[in-house]
Amino acid sequence: MGPMTETSTQSAIQHPGEDRSNDLRRRSAAVEPAALRTYTPSQAVLARSQGCYHWTPEGRKLADFTSGVLVANLGHNPTRWWQRVLKYLGLDALPAGGDFFSASTLTAYNALTPLEVEASERLVASLQSQPGGKRLEQVMWAGTGSEAVQKAIWAALEQRPDANVILATRNGFHGKKGLAGAVTGSELDHDRDPRVRFISFPTVECKSVARRREPLDLTPYRNELAGLVGEYGRRLCCLVTEPYLGGGGSFHPQKEYLQLLERFCREQDMVFILDEVQANFGRTGSLYAFSEYGVEPDIVVLGKGLGNGVPVDAAVGRADLFAKMHYGQGSDTWSGSPLGCAAVLATLDEFETTDVLAHARKLSAVIEGGLCRLTELPTVAQVRGEGVVWGVECAAAGGRTAEQIAVACVEACYLGDTKGRAIHLLGPLAGKVLRVSPPLVMPLDEAREYLDVMYQIFARVASG
Ligand SMILES: Cc1ncc(COP(=O)(O)O)c(C=O)c1O
Repeated sequence: MGPMTETSTQSAIQHPGEDRSNDLRRRSAAVEPAALRTYTPSQAVLARSQGCYHWTPEGRKLADFTSGVLVANLGHNPTRWWQRVLKYLGLDALPAGGDFFSASTLTAYNALTPLEVEASERLVASLQSQPGGKRLEQVMWAGTGSEAVQKAIWAALEQRPDANVILATRNGFHGKKGLAGAVTGSELDHDRDPRVRFISFPTVECKSVARRREPLDLTPYRNELAGLVGEYGRRLCCLVTEPYLGGGGSFHPQKEYLQLLERFCREQDMVFILDEVQANFGRTGSLYAFSEYGVEPDIVVLGKGLGNGVPVDAAVGRADLFAKMHYGQGSDTWSGSPLGCAAVLATLDEFETTDVLAHARKLSAVIEGGLCRLTELPTVAQVRGEGVVWGVECAAAGGRTAEQIAVACVEACYLGDTKGRAIHLLGPLAGKVLRVSPPLVMPLDEAREYLDVMYQIFARVASG
């Protein structure tokens, strides 16, 4: 089946030789709306996952270059991590007779569990041990990234009764719901929350990754911020941004840009909220991106890699900010769930006792080398990234648009006719950018092998 568009129905996707997957795709379309599916040209059906690989129901092996969506930083189902999760939950030695009294409760509403307190203490200690983490004193758990962003903005809105203007960086992604949806995208989107104003984020177009490391002229950004002070003055409440534009197409700013935003917040008595939902736990090369970028957030939003596959998110920030929220404002059914907290503890254990970050830095160099080679091809316009999160921007070629090329690359990688080697890729994002973000633990030789496969596939798409 040929390339599809975002508007065509997901049920149209069928791939040759995938009888079981095709059957599941058809059955899903009957009982689930297309609105639930994320737009993807492969619509992979994943039956099993281990380490850096997925398997389809037919047993086809896919090298995972997405980590879910930047979730499985430690790889999928790592044995020791699962053992730790089960141990924290008291499920490591289930009695045969059905007596579960030694296990943790799984509910957290209207109660407190030892796991929640331990996870909060450990997470705060971890954040505060990093340069720039000293303001991160208390944890407000959440069930999704959107919820955690919403809670962070709620906290900011409680600070001064006259301050309700929320600044957000244009084309960022913070989630689809509530205030997280309101600070996502740009003023061009429909039904904007009138409290939100967007500011420019550097989107330097450059063929060479090294260009990003050159100094950035901050003058236009400074002027824009000064204009907003003139317009709103003391009504400016908070600023929400990301370490890099992820969903917006992989733009990684110079450090001085985020430092400018942080300084501006201090000068204007605004709350500086850094959304690290997809950057945290090693993506940018350090445990948290704020230390990489040399900034000190008032609130940092965490998610995805925080639970390595278990849904758990959090806004962590200044105690005095959270103290202004009213009792119960941040509570809901799943926040602080024991399963989520056990996953956070196991993830912290792994990062604190292994060399996963050192390996991720080596992997970063391998990925940078492999992806930069792709720019030799006429269908690849640019490669942008850092750490283990990269974007490959496709270029229009041979009468095809960049989006069509990107879709063709995803399909070709997914079908993997290069000696059976197939790659699970994310995208296209922002219409033409493919995301490359394998688990941080991918062995270097396997990364090299699959980057070569990717080159061959992209070259074939270019010549087709
Ligand atoms: C930076 C960032 N913030 C927030 C979110 C929203 O998270 P969720 O999909 O769990 O609501 C995402 C999701 O991709 C994200 O990348």
